[in-house]
Amino acid sequence: MRVYASAPGKVTLFGEHAVVYGQPAIVASIDRRINVYAEPRSDKVVTIEARDLRVPGVIVTYKEGEVTVETEYGLVLPAISYLNKAIEITSRYLDSKHGVKLVVRSEMPVGAGLGTSAAVAVATVAAYAYSGGYELSKDEIARLGWEVEKAVQGIASPMDTSITTYGGFMKIRYSGSSIERENLAVGGDLPIVIAYVEREFKTGDMVRMVRERILKYPQLYGKMIELIGEVVKIAEEALVRHDLEKLGLMMNLNHGLLDSLGVSTRKLNEVVYAARSSGALGAKLTGAGGGGCAIALCRPEKIETVESIMKFLSEFTMRTSLGTEGIRVRVEKSV
Ligand code: MEV
Repeated sequence: MRVYASAPGKVTLFGEHAVVYGQPAIVASIDRRINVYAEPRSDKVVTIEARDLRVPGVIVTYKEGEVTVETEYGLVLPAISYLNKAIEITSRYLDSKHGVKLVVRSEMPVGAGLGTSAAVAVATVAAYAYSGGYELSKDEIARLGWEVEKAVQGIASPMDTSITTYGGFMKIRYSGSSIERENLAVGGDLPIVIAYVEREFKTGDMVRMVRERILKYPQLYGKMIELIGEVVKIAEEALVRHDLEKLGLMMNLNHGLLDSLGVSTRKLNEVVYAARSSGALGAKLTGAGGGGCAIALCRPEKIETVESIMKFLSEFTMRTSLGTEGIRVRVEKSV
């Protein structure tokens, strides 16, 4: 038996950080996937081949006047720990353990903020279960994938594992273990350019910094979180009506609020402003910030110009269409 499972990466269109405080966020799947191939083995041995888990650029850390530069090749190892944890958690859930040969490939760079760890977790949960002759519902896959992320990272929101499982466009809100997901029927194509700049801070650092600021100045930072929630409401309406002008405006506003929270960086701002001045309808950082990815919404006739300017100021760029299918599983039974 051969199992081919794949799950898409994602971008957060609106509402990152505010989602941690109960506000809704809007996320969308992208057209790059993590592919996991699984073949059961007759023994109980698990083998993993991680091919093509490409990592972007370098990490530069500035701390107390010292500059540390490390390559991001180390990020491949955490990606592999998601595979291990996915097998452990799925076999515990199924109460059944079997040997398997797994091969994982990525169509996008890992560790860039595109939800690759969630896609690895979700695709591996599905590949492992199906290679043992089991079937899982999407709800089960999303929940197990979230458990994998929590087990590896200590803390994780269900945003990435939800969007990579269900795909499409999704409004999501969560508090504690309760998750509200709503699929959004979006009125047309959304041409997006993604650009990656060096990561200076980790997601955890950014989330912690925002929390400290909210605790210290709730009347200011708390208000900005609420305002991001308001932006999400208007953006949802614009998405459904395919009002690209309004969407662009909301992206700019959301970026301004994220910058005020303190999670943007000079490089992210440079890419965002350059995209806007070269014709993008709107641009913002996406994800936790502190470096990582920025996205720009463009009319098709402008996308080439916008991408070439963003490329000039970043490590890499890619164009993507949004709202692709979530987890996909194909089983080939041997005869
Ligand atoms: C990170 O991609 C998004 C944050 O909102 C954190 C989270 O929701 O887990 C910053």
